[in-house]
Amino acid sequence: MTATADFIVRLAETGAMAPTADNGQACYIDWDGRTLGLAYAQRHAASNVFGPDSHGTLLGIGAVAENISAALAANGLDAPWQWAEAGGQPYGTLALPSLPGQFAAPAGPAARHTNRFPYRKAALPPALLEKLAAGSQGGNRVTVLSDAASIKRLVRQVRTSAEARFCNPALHRWLFDCLRRTPEEVARGDGLDMRTLGLPPGGAALLRFIADWERMAALNRFGMYKLMALAEVGQISAAPALVCITGGGARRDVLEAGRLLVRVWSEINLAGVAVQPFYVVSDQLNRLHEGILPPGFEQKIGAVEAEVGQLLALAPGQQLHMILRVGYPTVEPVRSRRLPLDQVLRHKAFSKDLASSS
Ligand SMILES: Cc1cc2nc3c(=O)[nH]c(=O)nc-3n(C[C@H](O)[C@H](O)[C@H](O)COP(=O)(O)O)c2cc1C
Repeated sequence: MTATADFIVRLAETGAMAPTADNGQACYIDWDGRTLGLAYAQRHAASNVFGPDSHGTLLGIGAVAENISAALAANGLDAPWQWAEAGGQPYGTLALPSLPGQFAAPAGPAARHTNRFPYRKAALPPALLEKLAAGSQGGNRVTVLSDAASIKRLVRQVRTSAEARFCNPALHRWLFDCLRRTPEEVARGDGLDMRTLGLPPGGAALLRFIADWERMAALNRFGMYKLMALAEVGQISAAPALVCITGGGARRDVLEAGRLLVRVWSEINLAGVAVQPFYVVSDQLNRLHEGILPPGFEQKIGAVEAEVGQLLALAPGQQLHMILRVGYPTVEPVRSRRLPLDQVLRHKAFSKDLASSS
């Protein structure tokens, strides 16, 4: 493999370490010999709830872009992303300057990961929280909640949002399509490895029991969704701090929010602190605006929006992009896998190079 081909492969591997909703990895990284591009990868079309312009997908694309920029910076390079302002594909491109002979890996992308297990209650160092709260990207910013009253108030919104989530057949189908139970399923390299979920004893059996939506819908008539939402907030209620990413709702804003998300997340993990994102509030608020909430939830989620806006001092047109539960870990979690790189990196320019090296 030539030095350039090797560099591009390592760059793409670093990009692909980025977090994506449910580890769906809806991103292609294209290389044409001069320019890198990021484009939507349609995966699991039958159940996927995140289309190319959805908020969840755009956060993931921004995260991939940030990892690539971090890798370039670690190699002394700087190249700006050009985002497609009018929408469409690719989302963005980056013209690469001449590349060094060797690739130096940045620390952040490999350190960053999701930890869904319990955390210690110990407070985090104020200097870390202050540094995080100073983060920004485009019009997006970071708000750190570390007082009990604010945490409790936001957790109430997570709980209400989770109740709506567990009444939604499309989200139910998508979640169960993402679960990877057997070693063969895990080896596919995408989705949610059950071992990463941090389930309590009996949790896996319960998930199997409710996998069928008809059964879940029947149980919901007796309030199952409320019990599930209560379980969802068990750990976040005990967090010593919640880190919120907020900002504008335009496509470009959300891409930039994805960049900020992964930068902040990597920084927290590099400090030895664990992170679990909670997307459920943002997701239900987006669904409120798209008119696709389960029947009967419009008012409740409308109230969530008002509460979140007040708590996070959001200006008109701004929204909550993500909540991160943070705290010192009690468990070193299993790391989630990634798809084989040939399902992510599309590279006409040196395909012969790669073929001859394998
Ligand atoms: C937009 C987005 C939404 C996510 N929502 C959640 C969530 O609500 N709960 C959760 O535990 N993880 C959530 N995650 C984390 C992903 O599931 C995780 O990043 C992915 O499985 C890859 O694992 P890794 O972060 O350990 O690399 C989200 C990630 C992204 C980018």
